[in-house]
Amino acid sequence: MYICICNAIREADVHAAVANDVRSFKELKSQLGLCSDCGQCSRKAKACFDAAKASQPTYLFKEHLIQLAQA
Ligand code: FES
Repeated sequence: MYICICNAIREADVHAAVANDVRSFKELKSQLGLCSDCGQCSRKAKACFDAAKASQPTYLFKEHLIQLAQA
């Protein structure tokens, strides 16, 4: 399913980016070009990013380790 029609970015592209260590929504937008034209995809893209993070146990573990290191 397409998340961003303007840039032909699919849900699978978002999941792949998260699996490849994209850490923030800002980084995701920069890397994929999400929301860079009309911006209509912004809410759906953020929801997809959050779902992708939640589905990656290693991602959550890495985030936890980063938070511990910063504490
Ligand atoms: S749908 Fe994503 S910028 Fe237009």
